[in-house]
Formats: sequence, structure tokens, C-alpha cells
Amino acid sequence: MTTSSRKLDHIRICLDNPVESEGVVARSFDDLVLVHKALPEIDEADIDTSCRFLGRKLSAPLMISAMTGGHPSVKEINVNLALAASELGIAMGVGSQRAALEEESLKDTFSAVRDAAPDIPIIGNIGAVQLKRSGPGILDQLAEMIDADAIAVHLNFLQESIQPEGDRDASGVVKVLGEAANGSVPIIVKETGAGISRETAASLADVGVKMIDVSGQGGLSWAGVETYRAAEIGDCDLEEMGRLFWSWGIPTPVSIVECRSIGLDVISSGGIRSGLDVAKSLSLGASLAGTALPMLKPATKDAKAVVRAMSPYLRALRICMFLTGCRRAGELKGVPLVVLGRTREWLGARGYDLNEFSAYRELTK
Ligand SMILES: Cc1cc2nc3c(=O)[nH]c(=O)nc-3n(C[C@H](O)[C@H](O)[C@H](O)COP(=O)(O)O)c2cc1C
Repeated sequence: MTTSSRKLDHIRICLDNPVESEGVVARSFDDLVLVHKALPEIDEADIDTSCRFLGRKLSAPLMISAMTGGHPSVKEINVNLALAASELGIAMGVGSQRAALEEESLKDTFSAVRDAAPDIPIIGNIGAVQLKRSGPGILDQLAEMIDADAIAVHLNFLQESIQPEGDRDASGVVKVLGEAANGSVPIIVKETGAGISRETAASLADVGVKMIDVSGQGGLSWAGVETYRAAEIGDCDLEEMGRLFWSWGIPTPVSIVECRSIGLDVISSGGIRSGLDVAKSLSLGASLAGTALPMLKPATKDAKAVVRAMSPYLRALRICMFLTGCRRAGELKGVPLVVLGRTREWLGARGYDLNEFSAYRELTK
């Protein structure tokens, strides 16, 4: 099976089936509560959600996370996402560009994104295993294809473990990521729905990686997607593994805390389903939040539908900022946040002092 047709399978399965891990494990973001400020003492009209990302201005710390490109029939999805991101002034990632490296004629399914959105940060994408095979020199080619501001190198070993044609040789990846991090194209190391731990973040920081997209557990499950594929081809063993590992991974809020504790710049993604999740992510120390799956179906319609799906995120972020007394998005880092339930237990078991997020912030102001 070619890379291009596998990508089509993924889109079809994501459009037609429940593929999220939520429902199996409670949403970790629901364990986080921003403390309401009954006297915000700011004028809502003065709130400014804008920020800078990869040298460009965004209207809000938001992005549409990597999804697609690499098949003629998905070009329109990419263009609709790009037109919407451009209208809203937010960033966008494209899906793995591997197919375009294998087949020149597919390049325009990616480059059309830059044509539709000349001014926003656009992030290219390649798998870590592919990067290891091709060598870091490939990053210049990927960046040039879409005039990218950075390239996300994705880690998807959960998916590879359940995929019939999965590539499970993860040896030597840290070394190649180190070489890439010291090259001319900025890189972001990105998971794809299973999160990044403190230990992994530390080994990435050691080799020079500066920015991580945690893409934690709580949203799209690649084990879930591959479960459907395994069932379709009648591979009962892999189907069983897919179900077993459906909710494997580090919940997104936990992963943000773990990676921030190493001092890395963090993008929050994996189960971001509202502007409230964005605000909570920023409060935990992320500088930006991304969402993928909820934008897929609207993007099969038109750019307007994507704008309609994304606009409430911006609105809710603004309301959160008002109700916590923040004029600037960056101020959310300092607002008190109470961590409850399983997320509290998890972070406590990993040795984190949760007072850092709640009472402590107020007492030390
Ligand atoms: C249809 C689809 C295709 C995806 N393809 C890629 C990809 O090529 N590269 C990548 O890094 N992530 C890919 N992702 C993962 C997303 O970027 C994101 O990390 C993940 O879906 C979690 O976010 P969500 O819960 O908001 O969907 C894809 C997601 C979807 C839904």
C-alpha cells in the first residue's frame, strides 16, 4: 500500500467513526479548573489575545494541527483549512509530506496551503523514522515545498505498533533529531496523540531541541484508527492490540507540565476541544494550543465551515481571559488553576508540586 492511499484510509476512518480516546478515560482537561475572578478589574474591550509565533503575529495562540496533504483528493481539505487559518490569523500545520517526497506530482497538495495563506506560520511535517532514513538534509526540501516557518518531526510509535505495515525501528532517532535541531530549519518535535514525558523531553533538550508539540492522549487515538484498518483487512490480532492500546499515552495536561518542567517551549495538542482547553493549556505553561480532528469534517465542506468551527475557540479564550482578569494571553500563565482528580494523582505520583498552579501563585504575587 502506498503512503498516499494509506493517508486516504486515515481520513475516511476519522470522518466515519468515533476515533477519540475520550469516553474510555475521562477527559484530563476536565480535571483542571481556572479559578474564577469575581472582580477582574479590567475592561473586556482591552483584552488582546494576539501573540507572536515563529516570528509572525497571530490573532490568538492557536493552530490547526497537522492532518493532511499527499493525495490529489485532499488538496481541497488543505486549502479550506489554510483559507480559514489565514482569515482567523492563526497558525497551521500540514500533514506528513512523505508522499510528496515519493511522488513529485503530489507536491501541490501541500504548496497550495502557502498559496492560500501567505502570512501565517505554516509548519511542515515528516515522521522521525522517515527523517532517519533520508537524513536531516531533507528538511530544507520540505521547508522549501511550502515555504515553511518550521518543520514538525512527528513521533508515532504507538501507531506504528498497531499498523500492519508499521515501521518499528525507533533506534537512533534521538541522534538524528539532534542533528536536525542544529540545522538551519527550525524543528518542532511532535507526538501524534500519546504525549511526551519529562524523560523524553530531557533527552530531546540534551540534543538541542527547543520546541515540543506534546500531542497528548485525550483526543484522536491512532491506535483507534488502526483498529478500524486492522478490522477491515481481517487482521484479528492487530485489531485486538488496537483496542487494548486505544487509550495508551500521557494525557495532554500532564505532558504539558512534564515538558515545561524541562524548560522547553511547549505547544499543547491532543484533545483540545474548546477555548477553555486552550486557556487551561496556557495556564499550565504552553505557549500555543492546536486542534486537529474537530476541523476535519468542516474542511471537507468549505473554509467558512472551518471558520465557524474554530471561532468559538477564540471567543471562549477571550471569556476565560476576562473572567481570570488577563489582558494578554501570556498572563494566563500566572492565574490560579486547581488540578483535581486523576490528573492530580498522576502529577503527584510523578513528583510535581501542584500548589505551584493554585494557591502558590496567589501567595507569591
Ligand atoms: C486525519 C488526521 C491525519 C493526521 N496526520 C498527521 C500527520 O501526518 N502528521 C502528524 O504529525 N500528525 C498527524 N495527525 C495528528 C494531529 O496532528 C494531532 O496531533 C492529533 O490528531 C491530536 O489532536 P486532536 O485530538 O485535536 O485531533 C493527524 C490527525 C488526523 C485527525
